[in-house]
Amino acid sequence: MSQRWSRKKSRLPLAGLLFMLALAVTFMVLYNERSIQQIHLHHNTNREQDLPQTSTFTSFVHPNLPPRNNLEVLDRYSRCNSTNEYSGKKIGWVDQMSGQRSDFVAAAAKEEICDVFSGKWVFDNSSSSYPLHKESDCPYMSDQLACQKHGRPDLEYQHWRWQPHPPCNFKRWNVTEMWEMLRGKRLMFVGDSLNRGQWISMVCLLQSVIPRDKQSMSPNAHLTIFRAEDYNATVEFLWAPLLVESNSDDPVNHRLDERIIRPDSVLKHASKWQHADILIFNTYLWWRQGPVKIQWSSEEKGSCEEVNGAEGMEMAMNAWAHWISNNVDPNTKRVFFVTMSPTHQWSREWNPGSEGNCYGEKKPIEDETYWGSGSDIPTMRMVERVLRGLGPKVSVINITQLSEYRKDGHPSVYRKFWEPLNDDRLKNPASYSDCIHWCVPGVPDVWNQLLFQFL
Ligand SMILES: *[C@@H]1O[C@H](CO)[C@@H](O)[C@H](O)[C@H]1NC(C)=O
Ligand SMILES: *[C@@H]1O[C@H](CO)[C@@H](O)[C@H](O)[C@H]1NC(C)=O
Ligand SMILES: *[C@@H]1O[C@H](CO)[C@@H](O)[C@H](O)[C@H]1NC(C)=O
Ligand SMILES: *[C@@H]1O[C@H](CO)[C@@H](O)[C@H](O)[C@H]1NC(C)=O
Ligand SMILES: *[C@@H]1O[C@H](CO)[C@@H](O)[C@H](O)[C@H]1NC(C)=O
Repeated sequence: MSQRWSRKKSRLPLAGLLFMLALAVTFMVLYNERSIQQIHLHHNTNREQDLPQTSTFTSFVHPNLPPRNNLEVLDRYSRCNSTNEYSGKKIGWVDQMSGQRSDFVAAAAKEEICDVFSGKWVFDNSSSSYPLHKESDCPYMSDQLACQKHGRPDLEYQHWRWQPHPPCNFKRWNVTEMWEMLRGKRLMFVGDSLNRGQWISMVCLLQSVIPRDKQSMSPNAHLTIFRAEDYNATVEFLWAPLLVESNSDDPVNHRLDERIIRPDSVLKHASKWQHADILIFNTYLWWRQGPVKIQWSSEEKGSCEEVNGAEGMEMAMNAWAHWISNNVDPNTKRVFFVTMSPTHQWSREWNPGSEGNCYGEKKPIEDETYWGSGSDIPTMRMVERVLRGLGPKVSVINITQLSEYRKDGHPSVYRKFWEPLNDDRLKNPASYSDCIHWCVPGVPDVWNQLLFQFL
């Protein structure tokens, strides 16, 4: 299946890939500026071959079907009354606007010759520059991310600065400049709780310069909106952890054993995100929790098929890509995809022989080749293929490697937990440590600086 994507980018190890990338860049700088932009947006040395061609799918479903009246919206009460084997149906898409590819981000091309995602963390206690904002100054902080408030004794985690390898540099965060870029615009984050963390970091970074009576936050809902009156701008978060319609679309009440998705329906969420000017998407961890049930819109109510998480994610990414390819003009709308956020659940991965997790970690990992087992490489390749097919319509914010180093950046026990903790657990802090989300201020601030860099 999916012949279009069967030519994998490369089986070379990363170092070889980067070397080839460097060579290719040196070579192409002389010839073709447009190719350079594309290479750097997608880290791709082989783009021409992978442009979408006429579809060869046989069982091919177009997402975005208009909602049918008899089709119930999936919610936490949805069930499968029968589950069949996967029929092999795929989500396919062809880039409808490929003829209109423009000289997108010409101005940014120079910066993107650098790989700002590759570098190291530098402890920065010398100036008052880090952290970029104070936890207690932000009225919108989440109790799940406010590590200092919840008693974290070591605060060094707030003082690490990301330093891309020379000659690359990192544009200094400038809140006024960021607001000027957002003037009259809607910036929207769409995804899961990791993306929500990045949104909270962004709101906290931005709100400090807006007088309290000129800013507002709508109540926490499916779509939560921060408004800055004088800039006529919003910074929004849309809960859509699986991107496509699912039974987990309630932002609060979504703890389910059975995940059901409708991979041919992104419309439910897309209707909320379609008017945003700048979109930041993510999805990953929700696909890592076992099999996923599918309800195709064309099937009888309650009849499901089952796939594994990676297959489910690929379908969702393709449905999303279909929407992007048909609805995004890169001259008027900017779209970013944030790669997988790493977890630090097993300390043996960076400290062989140990049996803990991120609990008690106070320093980043220094081994630049470190890559944890939670960041699935086949999934990364799949994401790359999908993004590459979208050309200049999507830019990647590749947070994975740089966040891999930050075993010290998670809340561990220093956050509010939803369930009360019994004595057994309290005696063993590692057992309930959160090694998935990130303290704010902290790592997500750097993800936002990367975004600032590319806007
Ligand atoms: C960094 O600076 C803060 C505040 O100035 C101080 O409390 C902290 O001990 C310093 N940390 C290190 C490792 O020097
Ligand atoms: C931040 O950006 C504004 C507007 O572009 C500029 O006037 C100001 O000098 C910048 N501040 C710093 C510290 O670079
Ligand atoms: C505010 O921004 C919206 C777009 O987000 C635009 O339609 C509207 O005209 C703007 N209003 C003002 C007063 O500039
Ligand atoms: C599946 O279950 C729902 C209620 O749970 C029912 O309304 C529906 O008719 C069932 N569909 C089939 C095909 O049995
Ligand atoms: C992100 O960066 C890693 C290396 O740090 C690379 O292996 C991966 O392919 C990149 N992902 C994307 C989508 O560009």
